[in-house]
Amino acid sequence: MEPKLSLLFTKDEIATTVSRLAAEISRDYQTKHPILIAVLKGSFVFLADLIRQLDFPLEIEFVRLSSYGRGTESSGKIRVIQRPQSEIKGRHVLVIEDIIDTGFTSAFLLDYLNRKKPASLKLCTLTDKPSRRQVPVNIDYRGLTVPDKFIVGYGIDWDEKFRYLPDIYAVE
Ligand code: IMP
Ligand code: MG
Repeated sequence: MEPKLSLLFTKDEIATTVSRLAAEISRDYQTKHPILIAVLKGSFVFLADLIRQLDFPLEIEFVRLSSYGRGTESSGKIRVIQRPQSEIKGRHVLVIEDIIDTGFTSAFLLDYLNRKKPASLKLCTLTDKPSRRQVPVNIDYRGLTVPDKFIVGYGIDWDEKFRYLPDIYAVE
């Protein structure tokens, strides 16, 4: 059965948020030539819109982490499936996330990247679901705060579905 979706954030609200985040990031990274590390798959639409509003030299890498599988609950056990290809050591690194829920994924990834001795390490997320947090995560650039609901659209999936939707919806 297809779930019922209710509109949470329109594409205009998302675009405004992406522009704000791009302005914040642009202020901080002008001369730093950072590596943006996007977490696959959910952040690819956000990344694509974000980087086209950045006005300084940067590089892109992707990481893929073991996911929730078919369920909607984080297991807290995470593995790196695809590693960043370039050298992290001594570089300014900005992680690009689609959503921070329990915090397990970001906490794991930040720890994983920190071991590679970057010059700096910060976190940007399009959406944040603080009501569900189980481990503390320091978010440097926060987009939209979402209620305790499962969201889809704008790259974010429910069992691989709905990534193509231009707006963000809550699954009812
Ligand atoms: P965390 O480890 O619980 O913070 O979850 C992070 C990951 O879980 C995200 O990168 C998403 O892939 C997935 N996730 C968490 N909440 C949602 C949601 O509401 N919709 C879609 N995916 C979600
Ligand atoms: Mg997912």
